[in-house]
Amino acid sequence: MTRPYTDYLDEILITTEQLQKRVAELGAQISADYSGQDLLLVCILKGGVMFLTDLMRQITVPHAIDFMAVTSYGAGTRESTGVVRILMDLEIDISGRNVLLVEDIIDSGHTLDYITRMLRARRPASLRIVTLLDKAERREVDVKLDYVGFKISNKFVFGYGLDLDEVYRNLLFIGVVRPEAFIPS
Ligand code: IMP
Ligand code: MG
Repeated sequence: MTRPYTDYLDEILITTEQLQKRVAELGAQISADYSGQDLLLVCILKGGVMFLTDLMRQITVPHAIDFMAVTSYGAGTRESTGVVRILMDLEIDISGRNVLLVEDIIDSGHTLDYITRMLRARRPASLRIVTLLDKAERREVDVKLDYVGFKISNKFVFGYGLDLDEVYRNLLFIGVVRPEAFIPS
């Protein structure tokens, strides 16, 4: 995919200004909730990375960060199957820690359900979820979200960490894909 993003863009769904404002609000809320407490942000690669780096700048509580990379079988398609494989595990031992999982988007919920089961088995003191985007109407597994940036409708989106076949994660806004222009490989 080497074409300019404009070839795939139907419309801008969330502007840079809207993203920055909402991320600042989430950061303030998280800072208040974890005031005086231990905090470890766990970012799910790769989609969560833009959100993490903006969010952590807005969190005033001292905190550590760590990363985990997973893949859903069926990745590359638009459907996730619930069968998740860990490509890269955390470096930090989360037992007894207050973990805040940083996600880009919750769609069916299968990926998050798997990750939270696995992390809970490691006995963190607490485990909460912050997601930038929530496609609630696509949910197949009930997962509890503690902080949500934006609820969005069932449209395939890209930018601000989210990819089209691994490209365009750098865009500073969330865009809707022109359905006829992008067929996932
Ligand atoms: P779930 O397991 O169905 O909740 O899928 C979550 C994952 O699917 C996310 O972490 C994304 O990688 C991917 N995904 C779901 N919807 C979109 C989208 O609209 N754009 C880009 N990636 C998406
Ligand atoms: Mg993806």
